[in-house]
Amino acid sequence: MGVVKLFESVFSLDGKLATRNFAKGSRVYGEKLRIIDDVEYREWDPYRSKLAGAIRKGLKELAIKDGSEVLYLGASTGTTPSHVSDIVGEEGTVFCVEISATSMNQLLALSEKRENLIPILGDARKPDDYEEVGEVDVIYQDVAQPDQDDILIMNSEKFLKKDGVAYFCVKSQSIDVLKAPEKVFEEVKKKLEPYFEILQEIALEPYD
Ligand SMILES: C[S@@+](CC[C@H](N)C(=O)[O-])C[C@H]1O[C@@H](n2cnc3c(N)ncnc32)[C@H](O)[C@@H]1O
Repeated sequence: MGVVKLFESVFSLDGKLATRNFAKGSRVYGEKLRIIDDVEYREWDPYRSKLAGAIRKGLKELAIKDGSEVLYLGASTGTTPSHVSDIVGEEGTVFCVEISATSMNQLLALSEKRENLIPILGDARKPDDYEEVGEVDVIYQDVAQPDQDDILIMNSEKFLKKDGVAYFCVKSQSIDVLKAPEKVFEEVKKKLEPYFEILQEIALEPYD
């Protein structure tokens, strides 16, 4: 059975993406668990997680590492946040901001098994409401809102380290259903350029 290391804590197991399970024995979304050489891994489905899809589509660098402090905006029920929690491990933290109280219940249950995952019921448009998060190495944003670029800028200004990295999932349909996606992406890029150096853009088809 082949274990290939793709990034510091991301592996390919016989061609399937996986992370080391931080909460041994527990699944989050029905994913398969595999034990190889006494290490338990969780398969990571690129059709369920945009970060896994991005890795599959050629992400060059993963700034989320062992010990990283991550602010995760739009955590939903924790599918991708759980893999981020696997990657940052004991020394890292994943602050998960989510606006839906229903999703928050599942995030709370997840945080009982994962001490490095901190659920925050809140609106990513109001970063003052969760300022206790402090400075972070990485922002991961997946909120699917028309003002998603403004949300990223305001959170980065408040929380992101000077040389920090942001992963930003842009859903063109959430910004403008009538405009061609390419046009929406161009406009978003223009808006972000004064604040960020854009390192890589990845189209997520066929995963998302
Ligand atoms: C596409 S889902 C996120 C999926 C998740 N990132 C994953 O990969 O497992 C988008 C989430 O953003 C949340 N959301 C939307 N607007 C928000 C806001 N203003 N603040 C915080 N969360 C928001 C939604 O409730 C939803 O759960």
